[in-house]
Amino acid sequence: MKKILLTGGAGYIGSHIAVSLYENGYFPVILDNFSNSERQVINGIKALTENNFSLHDLDCKDPESFDKVLEAEGRIDGIIHLAAYKAVGESVQDPLKYYHNNMTSMWAVLDAMERLGIENLVFSSSCTVYGTPENEVVTEETAINPAFSPYGYTKQACERMMEDLHKTNSRKKQIRLRYFNPIGAHPSAVIGELPIGTPNNLVPYITQVGAGWREQITVFGNDYETADGTCIRDYIHVVDLAEAHVLSLGRILDKSGSSLETFNIGTGKGTSVQEIIDIFQEVNNTPIKVVYGDRRPGDVPSIYANADRAYKELGWSAKYGIEDCLKHAWHWQKTLTKPGS
Ligand code: UFG
Repeated sequence: MKKILLTGGAGYIGSHIAVSLYENGYFPVILDNFSNSERQVINGIKALTENNFSLHDLDCKDPESFDKVLEAEGRIDGIIHLAAYKAVGESVQDPLKYYHNNMTSMWAVLDAMERLGIENLVFSSSCTVYGTPENEVVTEETAINPAFSPYGYTKQACERMMEDLHKTNSRKKQIRLRYFNPIGAHPSAVIGELPIGTPNNLVPYITQVGAGWREQITVFGNDYETADGTCIRDYIHVVDLAEAHVLSLGRILDKSGSSLETFNIGTGKGTSVQEIIDIFQEVNNTPIKVVYGDRRPGDVPSIYANADRAYKELGWSAKYGIEDCLKHAWHWQKTLTKPGS
């Protein structure tokens, strides 16, 4: 059974990837220091994998962590590198935190691959690398514009590190997945997103309003040049996103030579903030109090994926629609207890 190291494997996306790996015959090896994730997620992964994974409570910024994991595991066939901070607003307030964490961990991953002879890497990138794109539909060839946040810049810089390493003829097979907006939860409601503190993202905020944890959602701007005035994003179910990683590994694990490939992972369909709120209320029969506020600095009015390359080359496409995403997010929310209560 091939062993796949997941840095940040205890996070929202990592936990869903661990389950998909297990379901597809891989053995997930989680490396996480729990700096931005809750330990209780491990119970969910245990339940969904029948305990077929291993966990290393280590910091992936520390190069020695990889030596320790390799020694304990015997071998590592590939790495999925997810460990990173991801809050756009926080990165503007505290850029050094982002540069230190996101770039040091990427360096440590690539350094470990060089030193320890690990050839396969799938990197968790983001559509944030496109900055403010000229067209709202982006392909992988769309120009990389200046990042609008330190967070975005760290993703661009990490992609660049992979590119520079590729040019050295280092025998690596690398894939960069540019995620659009992952939402939802595992259909079992055994794992899902556990935001620490106030959610930054739209859907966990909505579910917390639905659950009565928060009074209302503020829509950040309804005066954009879109049909209903609110921002448009490409929301993708987290289980579909997890599948894209499994297919990416399948593509590179048994290949020889070196390669560097990039894929957009989105549905190809844009949905507005207002539509998300409306659909959530309808499919879950749960009212959401909404107020309309100012635009959030740094928001791109509209962006969604052209994901044709992922379909053609990986055989990947999203299976879940927006209704499923919002139903699963709500099922998950209902399993949670309000912190402090
Ligand atoms: N929004 C609100 N109210 C809220 C929260 C969000 O109106 O309380 C709006 C935002 O203004 C935006 C949309 O909902 O228009 C989506 O916002 P999210 O914060 O959920 O997602 P973003 O598109 O800003 O960011 C996400 C990830 C980033 C990633 C980025 C790429 O959080 O990590 O997508 O576009 F880089």
